[in-house]
This record gives sequence, structure tokens and C-alpha cells, in this order.
Amino acid sequence: AYTAQPFVPARGGLTALRRAAAGCHGCPLHRDATRTVFGAGKAHARVMLVGEQPGDQEDRQGKPFVGPAGGLLDRALADAGLDPADAYVTNAVKHFKFTRSEPRKRRIHKAPTLRETTACGPWLAAELDRVEPELIVVLGATVGKALLGSSFRVTRVRGTVLEEEVHGRPQRLVPTVHPSAVLRADDREGAYRGLVADLKVAAQALG
Ligand code: URA
Ligand code: SF4
Repeated sequence: AYTAQPFVPARGGLTALRRAAAGCHGCPLHRDATRTVFGAGKAHARVMLVGEQPGDQEDRQGKPFVGPAGGLLDRALADAGLDPADAYVTNAVKHFKFTRSEPRKRRIHKAPTLRETTACGPWLAAELDRVEPELIVVLGATVGKALLGSSFRVTRVRGTVLEEEVHGRPQRLVPTVHPSAVLRADDREGAYRGLVADLKVAAQALG
């Protein structure tokens, strides 16, 4: 099976992890992407936000959530009373997965499969081990399934505080929708308000 495990160093902090992840060949996604996009933010952040995978801008810049979805997420965090500078932001999958309709055409994001989120899981496990967040914000159904199993339903549990084991650690989690889904929604304002309401639950859980 595909797995990042042999590439993950047992020791060292986030800097060591980030350096090692740059050379990860744990699954085929590294082949077409430009670079590994590792997590970023405060080393001992109280809250860890987990997205799906880097997008086109993230792949170019090498940082998570720097494109349109990231702009929306930052605004929603601020509106919910969470300081983006106090968070650690990462993705379930660290390489950009995409298709092109034609050569040299725009790269279109493609959702990662369970095989790919599973392969990349050891990086997220290592980030959780180093950051030790009090709370994980789960951004969307794909991430929820990656962290909590295929029975996860975002519509059922969004905006609630879950207590579940994640990579062998007891964790508090608040699921919500993915910021990219807000950008695509017909009722964008309503979807945005829903995201902010869920993030307020996270802010409250942090106290
Ligand atoms: N969407 C994600 O899930 N992650 C990013 O880093 C950017 C967009
Ligand atoms: Fe490694 Fe994850 Fe990239 Fe696959 S997606 S090559 S497991 S970092």
C-alpha cells in the first residue's frame, strides 16, 4: 500500500518534518505536483485547522491556504473571533492533485481518494504529535472521513464538539464545511454564515 511512513522522521520538530516531507514519495501524487505543501503556523497552536489538499496557488507558493479558499477562511476565522496567527493550518494530503482538460490549460483540483489520504496520514499524525493542539477544526467531508472513518457525515456533526481518537490520540474536534464549498455554493452568504457559526463553536470550546 502507498504510505508516507518510511519518510517520516521519528525525531525532530516541525522544521525537521517539513524538510523530510519535501522529499516524500509515499504515493504517486508527488509526481505531477510542483512541491510538498506542508502545514504552517504556530508550533504549539491551540487549534489545528485541517483542509483537504493544496490547491493551485498553494502548489505554486508552497504554503497551505494562500489562495481564494484561504482568503475566505482567514476572514471567517476573524469573524468567529479566532486569530489565524494563533492557529496551525495543514491539509490531509500534502500534494496538489489535479487534472487538465488540455495541455497548458488551467489545473483543476481533484478530490483525493481514501487511499491517498491514508497514505499521507503519517504526516498529519506527526504534526499532531508535535503541535499537540487542544482542538482540530475539520474542514469538510473528505477530511472528516480521513480522520474519523467513512461513516463520517459532515451535515450531521458540523458545529458540534466531538471527542474521538485521531491517530491514536484522544482529540476534541469541531467539523465544518470546506471553505472551497462556500466559494462554490449557490447561496454563498448563507454558506459563509454557516461556516462562521461553526467556527464560533470552536472558539467557544477553546474558551
Ligand atoms: N484547499 C485546501 O483544502 N487546502 C488548501 O491549502 C487550499 C485550498
Ligand atoms: Fe507523500 Fe502525501 Fe505527497 Fe503522497 S501526497 S507523496 S504521501 S506527501
